[in-house]
Amino acid sequence: MAHEPQTRMEKIVSLAKRRGFVFPGSELYGGLAGFYDFGPLGSELKFNIKQAWWKANVLERDDIFGLSTAIIMNPKVWEASGHVAGFSDPLIECKICHQRFRADHKDDIHQHSMDHYRNLHPEGGVGQIIPYTQIFMPSRQFNLMFKTFVGPIEDETSIAYLRPETAGGIFVNFRNVLDTMRVKVPFGIAQIGRAFRNEINPKDFVFRTREFEQMELEYFVKPGDDERAFQEWVSVRLAWYKRIGLNNVHSREQSADERAHYAKATIDIEYDFPFGRKEIEGISNRGDFDLKAHSREGDGMSYFNEETKRRFVPYVIEPSAGVERILFALLCDAYHEEDDRIVLKLHPGIAPYKIAVFPLLRNKPGLVKKAEEIYRGLKKHFSVAWDDRGNIGKRYYCQDEIGTPWCVTVDFQTLEDDTVTVRDRDTMQQERVPASELDQYFNEKPIASPTR
Ligand code: GAP
Repeated sequence: MAHEPQTRMEKIVSLAKRRGFVFPGSELYGGLAGFYDFGPLGSELKFNIKQAWWKANVLERDDIFGLSTAIIMNPKVWEASGHVAGFSDPLIECKICHQRFRADHKDDIHQHSMDHYRNLHPEGGVGQIIPYTQIFMPSRQFNLMFKTFVGPIEDETSIAYLRPETAGGIFVNFRNVLDTMRVKVPFGIAQIGRAFRNEINPKDFVFRTREFEQMELEYFVKPGDDERAFQEWVSVRLAWYKRIGLNNVHSREQSADERAHYAKATIDIEYDFPFGRKEIEGISNRGDFDLKAHSREGDGMSYFNEETKRRFVPYVIEPSAGVERILFALLCDAYHEEDDRIVLKLHPGIAPYKIAVFPLLRNKPGLVKKAEEIYRGLKKHFSVAWDDRGNIGKRYYCQDEIGTPWCVTVDFQTLEDDTVTVRDRDTMQQERVPASELDQYFNEKPIASPTR
């Protein structure tokens, strides 16, 4: 049977599975829509993305502190934040097959109507106006928070939610961080962690899933300083994408009717995915909405300015990014097809393996022993792969496909003069390097930045 040519998106998804980046969740049991598992290389890639974010936003800054809060919090947190009442998407249901859609995903709805219309009128007629109301029930709001119960009694009083964003945990700890770290406004709190949303229509691979990881930062400023801080954060975040080697990134200001009611301004950072230009991060000026929403009594969420002797509720600038969307964007951006190879041109700091070590032949104990020695030595400092299968050409092919920037081969000359071949993934150039200088050689490469 002839195979349909694969689209770019299909090729990337297939590589992701074949090479251990992303597996469909619960695959053994038929899968579960909206959930994915990350394989050995995917976990490494995710880890590198998170580390690069943490380094830039916590370790390199004097004014931002890390935090790690519980996924399940008192449900009052989500009542105060407005999520219980309003964290919903418009849902419509097909009267014929009962499939459900997000009412604002117009392309999906149109396609679905067309499919039914063709079945109902096989004689033709496509091109006529489709009466949506004949196919879909009226739309209603659907809350996206996953519910669970805390403790052994399952009733109204024990309902809790899996957090739909990590930001909530930051706001309710504002006072704790302020007091324990003795900081002055402006300052920020950063958190990386899982978030859960019962998306009506998870789709586009790991772009829209029901469980994902967010990297969120709340930066508290004096009212009046917020607009400048907002613009600064947009530049800082765009520069970070450059630093991790992600191209084809754009910023777009949300219109007033797109953005949340409390946001004074929102700029989305978008990437050109194969299925269109889509958001990977949102940066919002949220004013004092959150701290005021979580103010219980007294001055709990306000800040006392020692110099002016005045209290104020800080405004907050929030850059909020999704790990899986960035991972997916990186895979799309790095994916290249060249004459006789597929190569992932990932930034060396982000690539799962930095180096692969090969003995030229696996049945020559002298070569294998020397290669193992080099492999063990490099592994103390870098993430290194070992490969002794097939021939050198095949090994290069495999390492190119997973984005390993350098391959080190131990050959017969190594046994004579203690030099090895280092082959560069992007240029495919090879050079001889003394084995004793490999640590220094790789330390001079951009492996460390942006993650260490
Ligand atoms: N605290 C603000 C907030 O959560 P958001 O725009 O809803 O804002 C921020 O989410 C980021 O989280 C998005 O830019 C995206 O990268 C990621 N994200 C949101 N929903 C997602 C989903 N269903 N699947 C994967 N990533 C998602």
